[in-house]
Amino acid sequence: MLSAVRRVASANPAAMMRPLTSMTMSSAFSTSSSAYAPYNVKNITVFGSGLMGAGIVQVAAQNAFNVTMVDLNPEALKKGQDIIASSLKRVAKKQFPEDAAQQKAFIDKTMAQIKTSTDSEASSKDADLIIEAIVENLKTKQQLFAMLDKVAPEHTLFCSNTSSLPIGEIAKATKRTDRFGGLHFFNPVPQMKLVEVIRTDETSQDSFDSLMDVCTRMKKTPVSCKDTPGFIVNRLLVPYMMESLRIVERGEATPQDVDVAMKLGAGFPMGPFELADFVGLDTMKFIVDGWRKEGKIDDNLVAPVKLLDELVAQGNFGRKSGQGFYPYNGVGGKK
Ligand code: 3HC
Repeated sequence: MLSAVRRVASANPAAMMRPLTSMTMSSAFSTSSSAYAPYNVKNITVFGSGLMGAGIVQVAAQNAFNVTMVDLNPEALKKGQDIIASSLKRVAKKQFPEDAAQQKAFIDKTMAQIKTSTDSEASSKDADLIIEAIVENLKTKQQLFAMLDKVAPEHTLFCSNTSSLPIGEIAKATKRTDRFGGLHFFNPVPQMKLVEVIRTDETSQDSFDSLMDVCTRMKKTPVSCKDTPGFIVNRLLVPYMMESLRIVERGEATPQDVDVAMKLGAGFPMGPFELADFVGLDTMKFIVDGWRKEGKIDDNLVAPVKLLDELVAQGNFGRKSGQGFYPYNGVGGKK
């Protein structure tokens, strides 16, 4: 496939310079006899059935991809299925407000696109695209991809949904760094329209084009970003949340007042403390600590905040633990 791409590029370099629509891409590659062509992703395997993994599985299934959701054990997969089922109910109600039969048909059709498995190797055999959304640990991700690199087909694109680790470092565990990129989704995945598509220095143009196309077919809006700490959204959002904590720590305003201020004064859907609880205080701390260690971001922006460290040390991670800056009605409950 790659040699076919190079042949087309050298025959008509100008064509490769202009932005390619799916129409021009499919015609550009229609002569290829390869089993794989860009824009032809049909089967997606998602590793990780937590909130992000399940959300990605759901939007892929809703948009007619064949999806396999993989996790370590049936209990984790069941949790992922429950997340999908409750989110699909909301989506179905919105799409077919007065029609219970259509709602059911939509849910059944989406669920039928999803297989689940605890067998990592078997689940990657038919994948055109593998998206990893497992624990934020570089070694664990590298081990997973090193294994997958040996068993997945040659054409399979690899992606990580990491929010804090360098894609290039994860990709190094494989021999397919040209077919490796980042797809960074946002919580709640079914609702948030954005996906950041991350290309490393080695991600090939056709891999990148395919990832952009997959996002569009998932009815998301993709933006492109280089492999930098926090990409675009978290690079702006996390320092903003840290500065909000500093305002409170200095005794200048309460979390409640900061939240009201940013909602009503800046038009944000959630204030920074509500958002921190929503994202997870442990996740936020993990991102900031990682950036500080990496040393690529101004020290002042990632300086530790005692308030955050204490809450995390107490196990108060936000909505997921039932208590953060605000109390919640149980684990994952409402404020
Ligand atoms: N599945 C499907 N739909 C969902 C959903 C879910 N899990 N959660 C919310 N929605 C939909 C609702 O159906 C509703 O749709 P509608 O407006 O079309 O009727 C809409 O979202 C609003 O939901 P609610 O009315 O229940 O609640 P709110 O109005 O309070 O909105 C929110 C909730 C969508 C979470 C909103 O507060 C919001 O956008 N918050 C900001 C979220 C954000 O910034 N996310 C990014 C975090 S950073 C990140 O994820 C990166 C990571 O790397 C850390």
